[in-house]
Amino acid sequence: MKPFKTLDDMGEITGKVVLVREDLNVPMQDGAFSDDTRLRAAMPTISELSDRGAKVLVLAHFGRPKGEVNMKYSLEPVVAPLAAVLGRPVGFMMRLTPDGIAALANGAIVVIENSRFAPGEEKNDPEMAKALASLGDMYVNDAFSAAHRAHVTTEGLAHHLPAFAGRSMEKELDALQAALGSPVKPVAAVVGGAKVSSKLDVLTHLMTRVDHLIIGGGMANTFLAARGVDVGKSLCEHDLAETAEKIMDAADAAGCTIHLPYDVVVAKEFAANPPSLRTCNVHEVAPDEMILDVGPAAVEALADVLKTCRTLVWNGPLGAFEMAPFDAATVALARTAAALTKEGSLVSVAGGGDTVAALNHAGVAADFSFVSTAGGAFLEWMEGKDLPGVAALMQQVGSAAAAH
Ligand code: 3PG
Repeated sequence: MKPFKTLDDMGEITGKVVLVREDLNVPMQDGAFSDDTRLRAAMPTISELSDRGAKVLVLAHFGRPKGEVNMKYSLEPVVAPLAAVLGRPVGFMMRLTPDGIAALANGAIVVIENSRFAPGEEKNDPEMAKALASLGDMYVNDAFSAAHRAHVTTEGLAHHLPAFAGRSMEKELDALQAALGSPVKPVAAVVGGAKVSSKLDVLTHLMTRVDHLIIGGGMANTFLAARGVDVGKSLCEHDLAETAEKIMDAADAAGCTIHLPYDVVVAKEFAANPPSLRTCNVHEVAPDEMILDVGPAAVEALADVLKTCRTLVWNGPLGAFEMAPFDAATVALARTAAALTKEGSLVSVAGGGDTVAALNHAGVAADFSFVSTAGGAFLEWMEGKDLPGVAALMQQVGSAAAAH
């Protein structure tokens, strides 16, 4: 049995008013949506509820309007793209009213204006939650990527209505459980990104859960420097040397092997294919050079590590992947992970903004077992934190079990 209820547990919903929290916080570029991943993620739940005859009221936020009506953050422009993805009509309401809901046909789908226009939303105001809940019969949370927020539409509503995980939320939770909850061992984690300071909690949590911790990106420089390597003018948090040392000692004690690059790609400037580009041993970085990617020998060794593993969690690129050729290590290791996944020897789960962009760039996102649509929520999950939106769904099962 799952620790949360799903759409399978809703029973007969014809004519029921279902409040569905989706994450429609899609990236915008020049007034147009540049990526419909989150709209596609919302499709299975919305379509299913509509097919089953519910009145589907979609609650979502867009941007950070801070409790004020600001049409720059209106959700109205998302309605047509969502309708296109769903292949069925989608209505739009500025606010929910009993009359507006009564006028809806069974199966109707309506997006409600940005939940963050209401001052009570981000405060998780219980009065707002009660008032909103009184307009619906059931609540579905399908927005894993907003589940780290304890807001009315992500958390509060679950205390006032029968609450269920949507299909996308269910898929995320199942995949995350398989990756770190009860993974098949050995487990590897790739953690990249610029700064150790932003991933301290991730590293501390992971070292107790995984067998291999592969550190890349600017973060690796901080660890190398802590080990006495001269990293030249690389991005590096020298003030965190002691912290990095403590992490390495604690990982050692926990039986987790930390992998740092032993060859690196360096250049004197961060530019595409600069003349100063070269590959060298980490001990040969010149004072005027910076490390911009993991070197090919280290990538090969890391690929060998992945071949011995059964589960992989990936967050963050290994190098400055947005500029060629510093994308090479990320692309090569992502392709190895994808090939092992396809072979059936690895369960691979990835998430976090840059990570998804990096996997798309490597052309392998579809070959990973699961790629999360979440940014901040994925990171908090990797830190081992309870996500309020998920906890509220689980509480329902807990209280139902306790009542029996
Ligand atoms: C996201 O884009 O990661 C989610 O929609 C959460 O948005 P927020 O960081 O503004 O809460």
